Amino acid sequence: MFLALFVTDLDHTLVGDDRAMAELNALLDEYRQTLGTKVAYATGRSPILYRKLRDEKNLLEPDALITAVGTEIYFSNNNISDLAWSRKLSQGWDRDLIVSVASHFADLIPQPDTEQRPFKVSYFLTKEASVETVPQLKAALKSKGLNFDIVYSGDKDLDVLPNSADKGQAMSFLQKKWGIEPVNTVVCGDSGNDISLFRNGEERGIIVGNALTELLAWHNENPSPNRYLAKTFCARGILEGLENFGVLSNL
Ligand code: GLC
Ligand code: MG
Repeated sequence: MFLALFVTDLDHTLVGDDRAMAELNALLDEYRQTLGTKVAYATGRSPILYRKLRDEKNLLEPDALITAVGTEIYFSNNNISDLAWSRKLSQGWDRDLIVSVASHFADLIPQPDTEQRPFKVSYFLTKEASVETVPQLKAALKSKGLNFDIVYSGDKDLDVLPNSADKGQAMSFLQKKWGIEPVNTVVCGDSGNDISLFRNGEERGIIVGNALTELLAWHNENPSPNRYLAKTFCARGILEGLENFGVLSNL
């Protein structure tokens, strides 16, 4: 396949095996220079925690950065999130009311301030407590007529987002902006907040071998010939997936 757009999650997907990541970075850089491939990161982290990771690891400078689970999109040389995207998400979004409804749930522990974003309200929630709390929170927010979506990842993180935002919808925004077809896009992930990247079904999806049960369960319930489950972990798994999709033979 021709790789026009490469979208990857960071923690435990691109990042986690330094050697394999260095190999993958070199490859992506070559693709960028010879074929004009665009590279985008799609992370749950805020821009602040993204920069921390970037300074710790040798990340390639992306062409676009999707942060805070798809609620913010940054292009190189710009530290303000794309305004068209923010405008879209602000419709019907009532952050204060969501915080106030959620404050009645004792098991929801607010995440640090850096991770509370204009279009993302985040909590820690244990797996045990999630069984009751997630449906109850959903019902409580629904009863207020709120525009929201709940994403639970890694058996510990609960994000409330506008329903028009997730990593997958942010990726579609990039595809439209750059005129790239889903079939020329590769997406990679390991956890619950990555499901939206795979949901469309047209993109070529790589699930790394260390993926969490929430993503694996979804993958098993929604099989697709366009999705590859790698045996190896993190960036090594991405390389394995690229080989499977015949991307490597294009260079
Ligand atoms: C990242 C973010 C956190 C979020 C989690 C899952 O760890 O920092 O706020 O809850 O991803 O999306
Ligand atoms: Mg991850």
